[in-house]
Amino acid sequence: MKGIILAGGLGTRLHPLTLSTNKHLLMVHDQRMIHFPLSTLLSSGINEILIISSVSDLPEFRLLLGDGSAFGARFTYAEQRVPNGIAQALLIGEAFIGEDSVCLILGDNLIDVPEINTAMRSHAYLEGAVIFAKPVKDPERFGVVELNHAGKPISLDEKPIKPRSAYAVPGLYLYDATAVRRAKALRPSLRGEYEITDLNRSYLEDGSLRVVCLPDTTFWMDMGTHESLQAAADYVRSAQASSGRKIGCIQQAAVDGGLTVKQPSR
Ligand code: DAU
Repeated sequence: MKGIILAGGLGTRLHPLTLSTNKHLLMVHDQRMIHFPLSTLLSSGINEILIISSVSDLPEFRLLLGDGSAFGARFTYAEQRVPNGIAQALLIGEAFIGEDSVCLILGDNLIDVPEINTAMRSHAYLEGAVIFAKPVKDPERFGVVELNHAGKPISLDEKPIKPRSAYAVPGLYLYDATAVRRAKALRPSLRGEYEITDLNRSYLEDGSLRVVCLPDTTFWMDMGTHESLQAAADYVRSAQASSGRKIGCIQQAAVDGGLTVKQPSR
């Protein structure tokens, strides 16, 4: 399975922090924001990773992350000219994905969930799509999935005014290679974006969408607002202090993912 991190967008909810800095380069305690989704991919053993951002911000990502060889990985970079929606990542990544399955992760998602790594490993050669679901107090801020009594998905809505369930969909999606064809068939939503929820609905409609429910105790948040950015930094600081485990450390994540990490030269 290949990995894509989407790290563009305007970050308007974080103004003025993001007026001159890409959101995903902001500090979150002792790491940059992008280190967290990158760690999620590396710790699952994914080592071919495409990083997508705006043309003006890509040089900084290259400087920060390099070509990935230090972590036993290969990082490549691609531009999103206009932030027209999350599903565009599949089109930008078409040649990179080829005939493989792909994990798309949003650059502002902090997912400290061992179950995700297990699911990603077990779905490395999947047919269809796998998304995750986590009950939240404010589902209207997210993509929302409704499940039947057997845990099967029956509806998906993007930021519904009246959510049909409390299950938010985190920004981590596992797709087979048909995702590119499906993304090409999408039309912009009322707000003018190619919605990832519409892509997921295409899998739902032909019965090939699976949903993995995350336990209540797991930590997931997007870091797209001042409040959530601060809460994420607080979580990282306290979780590291209490467990002694580094969160968002890409060297450690690569080791956990079984990749061949080079020792830094003196
Ligand atoms: O965090 C999970 C949620 O992420 C999902 O539940 C929603 O279904 C999904 O639409 C998304 O909602 P957001 O409102 O959080 O999306 P946002 O516009 O903030 O973008 C999420 C990330 O993707 C952020 O890191 C910026 C990046 N992005 C977004 C768009 C629309 C891009 O790089 N390019 C884009 O065109």
